Amino acid sequence: MSPYPPALILLHWLSAILLGATFLLGIASGSASEKTIPALIHGGLGLILFTLTLLRLAIRLRLRKPTRRAKKNPLAKPKPLLAQIAVPVQWLLYLITLLMSLSGMALTLQAGVFSAAGLVIPADFYVFPLRAWHAAASTLLFVLFVLHLLTWVYYQFLRGENALQWIWFHKK
Ligand code: HEM
Repeated sequence: MSPYPPALILLHWLSAILLGATFLLGIASGSASEKTIPALIHGGLGLILFTLTLLRLAIRLRLRKPTRRAKKNPLAKPKPLLAQIAVPVQWLLYLITLLMSLSGMALTLQAGVFSAAGLVIPADFYVFPLRAWHAAASTLLFVLFVLHLLTWVYYQFLRGENALQWIWFHKK
């Protein structure tokens, strides 16, 4: 039985799908010669993610997300570093997602995408300093995502706890 409210479960999976799509579209736009469509969809999804992440944070802080019950066995082995850093990694995922969206918005302003002449998509965003920051943050976000996934693998397969149940819908 998941102690998460359904709104948080829905937002978790919706954000995961949108983050994957935004990430891939950002890379596709970077390597495309005609980047208007992928760049616009990418930016749009990034803005939706920004809103969803703020909403998620607000619900999570308001409802005080339940924590996993610690096993009270004094003989239990200490948890590996991966499990110990799981919660800070979750908070960093929120933070870097917000920073990705903010740096993306700042980059479009720096590049003058929305000018008086209409929509202007530069052939190479890398001439603008914020492009490198946006790319560096995306690498950090990817590393955090891998750590998040490995924590799930640890609980699900090494500890034998059904961690997926924790973040899925259940009938009352
Ligand atoms: C959480 C949200 C976001 C994620 C995960 C994300 C991810 C990425 C990634 C992975 C890249 C390619 C990096 C690389 O080539 O190394 C990229 C590029 C880019 N992103 Fe984002 N992004 C997000 C939000 C935004 C937003 C909100 C905007 C603008 C409103 C934006 C504008 C751009 C632009 C202009 C590029 C450069 C594309 C090019 O070089 O053609 N991003 N993004």
